[in-house]
Amino acid sequence: MSEGYKIIEHEHDVVVVGAGGAGLRATFGMVEKGLKTACITKVFPTRSHTVAAQGGISAALGNMGEDHWRFHMYDTVKGSDWLGDQDAIEYMCREAIPAVIELEHYGVPFSRTPDGKIYQRAFGGMTTHYGKGQAQRTCAAADLTGHAILHTLYQQALKHHAEFFVEYIALDLIMEGDECRGVLAWRLDDGSLHLFKAQMTVLATGGYGRSYFSCTSAHTVTGDGNAMVLRAGLPLQDMEFVQFHPTGIYGAGCLITEGVRGEGGYLTNSEGERFMERYAPVAKDLASRDVVSRAITIEINEGRGVGPLKDHAYLHIEHLDPAIIHERLPGISETARIFAGVDVTKEPIPILPTVHYNMGGIPTNYKAEVVTLKDGNPDSIVPGLMAIGEAACVSVHGANRLGSNSLLDLIVFGRAAAIRCTELIKPGSVQKPLAPNACDKAIARFDKIRHANGTLRTADVRLAMQKTMQTKAAVFRTAKTLEEGIQTMADIRQSFSEVSVSDKSLIWNTDLVETLELDNLLCQATVTLSAAGNRQESRGGHAREDFPKRDDKNWLKHSLTWLKDGKVSIDYRPVHLYTLTDEVEMIPPKERVY
Ligand code: FUM
Repeated sequence: MSEGYKIIEHEHDVVVVGAGGAGLRATFGMVEKGLKTACITKVFPTRSHTVAAQGGISAALGNMGEDHWRFHMYDTVKGSDWLGDQDAIEYMCREAIPAVIELEHYGVPFSRTPDGKIYQRAFGGMTTHYGKGQAQRTCAAADLTGHAILHTLYQQALKHHAEFFVEYIALDLIMEGDECRGVLAWRLDDGSLHLFKAQMTVLATGGYGRSYFSCTSAHTVTGDGNAMVLRAGLPLQDMEFVQFHPTGIYGAGCLITEGVRGEGGYLTNSEGERFMERYAPVAKDLASRDVVSRAITIEINEGRGVGPLKDHAYLHIEHLDPAIIHERLPGISETARIFAGVDVTKEPIPILPTVHYNMGGIPTNYKAEVVTLKDGNPDSIVPGLMAIGEAACVSVHGANRLGSNSLLDLIVFGRAAAIRCTELIKPGSVQKPLAPNACDKAIARFDKIRHANGTLRTADVRLAMQKTMQTKAAVFRTAKTLEEGIQTMADIRQSFSEVSVSDKSLIWNTDLVETLELDNLLCQATVTLSAAGNRQESRGGHAREDFPKRDDKNWLKHSLTWLKDGKVSIDYRPVHLYTLTDEVEMIPPKERVY
């Protein structure tokens, strides 16, 4: 081991990194099956970003009208702009029903219909009869569904006596050859380093929204697991696909749930026009997010934005009964009051598309096992490593995620990881000893950043990165903007070597935490720009003005990006166009109809 740092060793069957919805669901699922499991998390579990999810979790329960998991599957495949893996999508949509019922039994306080069933609202892209009707599929706890689910999962984890390591910063995966053997973490409250050895390491570390200037993500959303995977020499998948939520509060970026439009809200431009009728005559304001975000951007670009700078749009709910708003949308009423100074019962909310979700991430199969392209095999499993939640690219969302499929993804694949671990792992198996230098690389990086002594402030480098992502990898992209972005990001990465960490201590050093997170974000920003520059078509969240059409002939494939010595390399995996049961096969139509 490296000199100067004392390392405390732990041995578990499983280590889960992250305590959001996916991490917690996986953790207590493992414990329930007798696996000795550690959950390490950089924030207290109920502060994880899942707490911010608002509108709901999708499942074809059919409580509010006819529904079927096959309709849900069709919508998800279509919503993914045909880039989603259909075996995984089938798994998610079928398992949605038992998974949500299970949540109800765990105690999630869902809103109720008059006859006591789980309340379900309409969400974008969710239809019945393969696009013919509007589904009410999104199970809601008012507009605080993530909060309700996260707290319930944490309570379940406590009930199962799960072992938590709170305010531990995961630094790097410990790899031995191709196999993951655990993770090295830094404990904030006493400054010690901890090596968690495990038969299985599960990354539930979330997305990397904070690489952008305006996003709905908490400041902690820095994709630490994705970056650890890149540093381990493994690829990330489909990183060009970044979702802009149509309705972030103008100026602040905070989320205003799509549930608002599900409850009857609508968008207007400076002419008072309900412009979504032009862009999506059938689905209108409930078209999928990529469509609505592009429409708002076009309205603004063509001079029909609202406000003195004509640079945003309005979202209206003032026509709805205040009692309904109070019952179903209390959270956004408060957010709009605080962050936009708006009383939603009287005036519209100023909104702008804001980065919300990363469809790309760590490639996995539907059992949560991390896969890579190796010796020509695109589904080669990385031993000892799983990924779940937004960190993973299963890929159930393909090029664009449907609203309320994210909470579902967390729960279904958190549960799937626990199921798979019980098949793969014998509780308490003796683990091979690690090489004495197993942590050296990880410690060397940590130490180098800790002692960084340049002239630049972390906040300034971060701002340069965020502004570059916001302008160069925006809703609409061109070869020119992306090439400029790639070049600028290379310069910013170079400037990171001139960063300064002024606090050299190890205890509660937030300066060091932020700089480590910035390093992680920079890796992901770099591969995102390269993947976006490489993909010469428009699909889902990736809208190329210079290649405006989807091109299935050349681009119906997942992109993989590796980052080595600052250089990005790119290869591909095929999309799974087969289902688990082969009951349904969905082939992309020539033109997509909204
Ligand atoms: O609009 C929302 O409530 C967000 C939901 C989601 O991203 O799934």
